[in-house]
Amino acid sequence: MIYPIVAYGHPVLKTKGKDIEKGEMDVKTLVDDMFETMYNANGVGLAAPQIGKSLRLFVIDTDPIDEEEDQPKVKKAFINPQILDEEGEEWAFEEGCLSIPNIREDVNRKPNIRIKYFDENWEEHEEEYDGFVARVIQHEYDHIEGILFTDHLSAFKKRILKGKLANISKGKVPADYKMLFSLKK
Ligand code: NI
Repeated sequence: MIYPIVAYGHPVLKTKGKDIEKGEMDVKTLVDDMFETMYNANGVGLAAPQIGKSLRLFVIDTDPIDEEEDQPKVKKAFINPQILDEEGEEWAFEEGCLSIPNIREDVNRKPNIRIKYFDENWEEHEEEYDGFVARVIQHEYDHIEGILFTDHLSAFKKRILKGKLANISKGKVPADYKMLFSLKK
């Protein structure tokens, strides 16, 4: 099932997600639906708040951005994740977000992370990631903390984007996937 993707301006995107309890819901179906929704929108990551669910869950499927860099393709669901460590010299990368169409901006993040999470079979994992995969995980992890990539921008950049962001929240944005706008009349 493909969910509409919640657009910038909806309060669920600013809300910290709740942990999922084992057996509380059909988490496998939810994970499948999130992958389907993400692929339909050509995304590399999608967090539960982006489909209107205030839960600590996100999915990623990264294609290596640069064939020459030895980056793995990682397709995974992260349930109740906790980033345990973020290390290294911050690097800038242009991020986008399915909830914020047509805006891309450089965001600074640390390159190395260690994360603990459950998969959709409730197996617990602790893993390390770096580079682009770490970047995608950090972006999605922010979502379940109620943080958007635009929150990381300078006050100056935020001021420049204010009008565009207001338009997105009102539904004045072209997107080739179905979206849910909180302020659309
Ligand atoms: Ni996003």
